[in-house]
Order: sequence, then structure tokens, then C-alpha cells
Amino acid sequence: MAANTTNINNSANLNDTPLLCVQNIEISRQQAGKWLPIIQNVSLELHAGEMAALVGPSGCGKSMTAHALVGLLETGLRLTGGHIFYKEDDISRYDERRLQKLRREEIALLIQHSLSGLDPIRTVRRQMVETLKLQAKRSRKEMEAYLGTMLERIGFADPAAILDAYPFELSGGMRQRVLLAMMLSTEPALFIADEPTTALDALNRDRVLALLKQLQADFGLTVLLISHDEQSVRKFADRVITMQPGGMASVQAKGSVL
Ligand SMILES: Nc1ncnc2c1ncn2[C@@H]1O[C@H](COP(=O)(O)OP(=O)(O)O)[C@@H](O)[C@H]1O
Ligand SMILES: [Mg+2]
Repeated sequence: MAANTTNINNSANLNDTPLLCVQNIEISRQQAGKWLPIIQNVSLELHAGEMAALVGPSGCGKSMTAHALVGLLETGLRLTGGHIFYKEDDISRYDERRLQKLRREEIALLIQHSLSGLDPIRTVRRQMVETLKLQAKRSRKEMEAYLGTMLERIGFADPAAILDAYPFELSGGMRQRVLLAMMLSTEPALFIADEPTTALDALNRDRVLALLKQLQADFGLTVLLISHDEQSVRKFADRVITMQPGGMASVQAKGSVL
């Protein structure tokens, strides 16, 4: 079970078991009956409670890595090497049923371009309730009260109006905050946000990142913030992990001067 690779962040406290440990993963695509690697040697660690940024140029494989972490690679793509340990369990070997449970209860992925994933003509309430229903922990009334509280925490002064609204009535920044509230309502331990601010202007970008930082502290969340724009995430992240084209994440030490 143990991987034979060691090129991981060696500055972390050895007693501090990482929440997520990605060891030398390789992702390949199928072509003419063969699996050809697209990205290789991606290794990184996330520690509970931190916000790490995963940066690198467009096309270097950040999104693909994020998808692989939660078992959501597109058809025709496959994890062909390495291990992904979450709470010391190798989730890269999970079947679909266990991956679904993991996505529902532990790791939430806000996918790139997910703003377009909000249905413009169904109310925020309907879409948020549907997300929450997957957990089936609360009555309808409890759900609504909880969602109101979530929206308040995410900075909406009038959550009832937001629940009644259709996404097409909201600005880009507001829709992105609704999405954050929706994802966080399921109380994940690890939140992976893939380019959560690219559709936003500079002001809203900083607002959303500051909010995410605040939520990380408030909810004790562990966050992996993915961005092609290192400058915009650097001031919010505790640590920056750099990915190069074709893979190879080089990990900067926690607390190092960036
Ligand atoms: N379904 C796919 N099949 C083959 N190659 C893909 C597929 N999706 C993305 N790629 C390629 O894989 C590389 C990594 O893409 P991606 O993870 O989206 O990069 P990033 O998120 O860092 O911009 C790119 O070169 C991209 O063209
Ligand atoms: Mg991407």
C-alpha cells in the first residue's frame, strides 16, 4: 500500500499527518488502445485547516488534477499512477460508490466555469435545497433556516430575498457567493475551488477570495485554491504550490517567504 515515492513537502511537521497526500500521480488519456500520460509526477500535501493555492500556467493540468482527486476525470482519461491519501485512506482505489460518498460528505469541488452550472431560471432556494437534500439530514423547514444562515454568513444582508431570486437576477459576484454558500452548506472538510474568481472583475475577485479566507477560519475548512493567476491568490493563501506544464508540483514550505 505504501508508495515508494518521497518527493513531498518535507518541511511539514512529521507528526502532523496531512489531510490529503497526493503522491506522484499520473493521468493518461486513451488513444488507439493505449494509455498516454498527459500529466505526471504530481505530488502535494494539504494540512488540515490551511489554505493552499495550486498555481501554474493554463493547460498545465490543474483542473485535471482536481478532478482526479475526487474521482471525476472525464471519460477517456484515467489515473494511471500514484496514490491519493485522504485521512490516510488511499482514495485513488475507491470504487464509484465510495467516491460519491466522499464527494457528498468530505471533499467538495467547485469546478471551473461552475457559474454557468447555476440554472438561471430556477430559484436559488430550489437549487440550494437540492444540493442539501443529498445529505437528507434535515426537515424542509430546518433546511430553509440553515440555508438562510449560510447566506448570511456569506455576506448577504437579506437571505430570504436571495433564496427567492433567480440566478439571472444576480450579479456575477453574487452568483459566485451563492455557489460558495451552496458548496459549503454540505459542510465539507476539504474544499477545492478551481479558478473560483476568473469570471469576476478585480473588486469582486478580491471580495470572494477574502470571503473564502474568512470561511476557512470560521468553519475550520481546509481549502485548495486553484488559479492560473498567482498574483491574485498569493496574498490570501497560506502556502503556494506551483505546478509546471506536464506535472511536477513543487511545494513551497509553510511559512516560507514567498
Ligand atoms: N479530455 C481531455 N483529453 C485530452 N486532453 C485533455 C483533456 N482535457 C484537458 N486536456 C489537456 O490536458 C492538459 C491539462 O488541462 P487542464 O487540467 O484543464 O489545465 P489547467 O486547469 O491547468 O489549465 C491541457 O493540455 C489540456 O489541453
Ligand atoms: Mg483549469
